[in-house]
This record gives sequence, structure tokens and C-alpha cells, in this order.
Amino acid sequence: MAKKKTSEGIEAQPPRLQGRPPAQVQQPPAEERYADQLAFLRAVDTSSRPQGWLLSPGLVVDFLCGTHGEAIRAPSSAELPAGAPRSMVIEPKFVGGRALIERSVVTLAGERGLLLVGQPGTAKSMIGELLAAAISGSSALTIQGTAGANEDQLRYGWNYAMLLDRGPSPEALVPSPVLTAMRTGRLVRIEEITRCLPEVQDALISVLSERRLMIPELEGPDGSVFAAPGFNVIATANLRDRGVSEMSAALKRRLNFETVPPIADAQEEIDLVRRRARVVLSESGTEADVDARLLDILVRTFRDLRAGRTEEGWNVERPAAAMSTAEAVTVAAAITRQGTFFPTQKDPVSLLPGYLLGVVLKDNQEDRARLLAYWDGPIRRRGEGDALWKRMYALRDVLEELERE
Ligand SMILES: Nc1ncnc2c1ncn2[C@@H]1O[C@H](COP(=O)(O)OP(=O)(O)OP(=O)(O)O)[C@@H](O)[C@H]1O
Ligand SMILES: [Mg+2]
Repeated sequence: MAKKKTSEGIEAQPPRLQGRPPAQVQQPPAEERYADQLAFLRAVDTSSRPQGWLLSPGLVVDFLCGTHGEAIRAPSSAELPAGAPRSMVIEPKFVGGRALIERSVVTLAGERGLLLVGQPGTAKSMIGELLAAAISGSSALTIQGTAGANEDQLRYGWNYAMLLDRGPSPEALVPSPVLTAMRTGRLVRIEEITRCLPEVQDALISVLSERRLMIPELEGPDGSVFAAPGFNVIATANLRDRGVSEMSAALKRRLNFETVPPIADAQEEIDLVRRRARVVLSESGTEADVDARLLDILVRTFRDLRAGRTEEGWNVERPAAAMSTAEAVTVAAAITRQGTFFPTQKDPVSLLPGYLLGVVLKDNQEDRARLLAYWDGPIRRRGEGDALWKRMYALRDVLEELERE
């Protein structure tokens, strides 16, 4: 790369804006993060696989839901990558019903697409990414649904310079991830499908029913692309966005709906938030554990506000904000990070009101009052018998002060 001389005559490397990705990335895709697990599972897999799949259905489910602490042992005949262990415990990545993942896997092997619906932050995108990585070896064929998306983004576009020069030809065609997935027999992910206009979504109907995409501009065999075995669609839709009800009935019929619920068990959610926050912190260069008391109070607060009801059965006014597990992970990581950046602030719980306000106050001013009502109700009552919740109640002033800012 050419070096530039600065005014001082020192050779400076211009910032690289294009070209190869950096050696480290902020968030590698699932197939890279779990490359060792996927290579191991493929090597030990002896069950039959649907055509075009890299892993049998049972092991795909194990990859997402874990093996309950039990090790999978490689048979002596298995050819493992050099240096790979001969047995492996797969830790759960998705916390929740195994049956949901089993049904999703069954759908993907069939003739319909999969639509994961649910509240924000319930791991819909994560499930899609993990399924694509396990089944197709790549989670990269992804389209982000937006209000501005057009049909070309689901079908194909053209390299206009080449198109003008030579007319329509296979070389001038710019395939969408859907088209590439069809050609290569992989899964394609369509995130937030309901954000696309219904007429744009409908471009998928023929792809899903006929498993074929017509390219009328090209003649002969190039004019239609048939999906290779292994191709299917994983779409996600957020219930807070424009509704799935607006999807056309024709498209709905071609998708199996699976609802991804928030994590049912409080302790499971606490454990997950601890694990995920640790990973998030470690990826950003902070090796620290989340304070156990903070975790407990944080996750319980999120759960109460999300459900509109506490474990004790007290009613809580629900804020409009989603209060998702994903947000809880972010807050746990942020408070811990703040503690390592500014070690003089030793009490992590005291930072909670500020971050909670940041989560709750997204767009609805009435949510301020709801948060204060939560303080004056459940937090005050719990504080009567528990020192930590009492400490939390004492932070009401902090909350009020922050509100005035
Ligand atoms: N049940 C769960 N199991 C494992 N991780 C979870 C679970 N629920 C939430 N998470 C955490 O939340 C993070 C965010 O999830 P993800 O982005 O996949 O949610 P989403 O449902 O796609 O949200 P959105 O609707 O906002 O797009 C995950 O990376 C994970 O850390
Ligand atoms: Mg998502």
C-alpha cells in the first residue's frame, strides 16, 4: 500500500478503509465463534442428514440447546481435525424450550420457511444465526428488512455498467442473498421481514412455493434458478414492529410460525445474563465478572417490569419499553465496565437507576412515572425485609435527581 508523507516528513500509513477485514473483529459470525464445536460435531455425526445439510437434525438441536453437561464422545472411527478433543460438552446457547428448536429444525427440512416471532430481544436473530451456521456452515446470507427495501434486494439486481455495455447476461446479474442461497443450497436469513412493505415481502412467495426464481431478462436455462437441496428461509419478526397481521395470507401460508417467548425461569435468566455479559465484556477487552447482587436485582427488576407482575404476585405498571433479556445483558455489561473504568465508584447497584432510566425512557414520558411507581411499590415493600432491596429503595433520590436533569 502506498505510504503518504505528512508535513513533518514522517511516513504515515493512511487508514485502511477497504480491503481485507481486520485480524480482530468486534463480533465474529457464529460459524467462526463456534468453529471448533461445529467441526467436532460434523466429524462425529453418524446420523442421516437432510440433503444439503452439514449436520444431522439431532446435533443441530444439541448445538443450540446444549448436551445437559454430558460429553459427546467421538467414535474411534471418527476423523477429527488435528488437535481436536475426542469428547466435548456442548454448552447451551439458546436458553428455552428444546421443543421450539426441534420444531424449527423440522420446518427447515420441509417445504415451508420458518418465521420466528416474538418480543424484542428474545434471541430470534440469535437462533436464526446459529441454525444457519450449523445447517449451512454460514450465517452470512442475510437480508435486513427495512421500510426502504425493494424487491431487488430479495431477488436480484444488475451491474448497470456491464448491463449497458453487454446487455443482460449472467455476469451482469447481481444476485441477492436469496438467489445465492438457492444456488448453493443454503439457508438465507431475512431479519425483521415485517418492516419490508407487504408487496416486497411477496417476492418470496414463488421462491417458497415453487423453489424457483425467474429471471425474465435472461434467456434459456439462465432464465430460471432452481433451489438446490438445503435451501430454505429463516425470517424473524418483532411483535413491536408493524404487525405480522399485515403479511399477505399467501406468504403466511408458506411459513411456519414459531413464537420465541422470554425466558421463563428467573434463575436461568440470571445465569444467562451473567454468562453473556461476561462474553460481551471480554470481547471488548474487559475481563470482569458481573457483581452477583447487581445481577440478581437487575434481572428481577427487568422481569417484573416486563411481566407487569412480580414473583410475589404484586401488580406492576408495565412501561412501553421492551425490558428484554438482551437489554439486561447490555446494562449488566455497561455497569461492570463503568466499575472497571472508574474504580472509585465501588457500588455497582448505585449505578442501576441511571441505566434503568436509559432503558425505560425510550419514547414514552409516562414511563418515568411507571418506574417511580415501581420504586414506591415492590422495591419499597421488598426493602422492608431485605437489606439489598432497601439499598435499592434508598436510590429513589438518585432516580428523581436524574429525572430533573
Ligand atoms: N432465550 C435466550 N437464550 C439465549 N440468549 C438470549 C435469550 N434471550 C435473549 N438472549 C440474549 O439476547 C441477545 C439478543 O438477542 P437477539 O438480538 O437475537 O434478539 P431478537 O429477538 O432478534 O431481538 P429484536 O427483536 O430486537 O431483533 C442474544 O445475543 C442473547 O445474548
Ligand atoms: Mg433480531
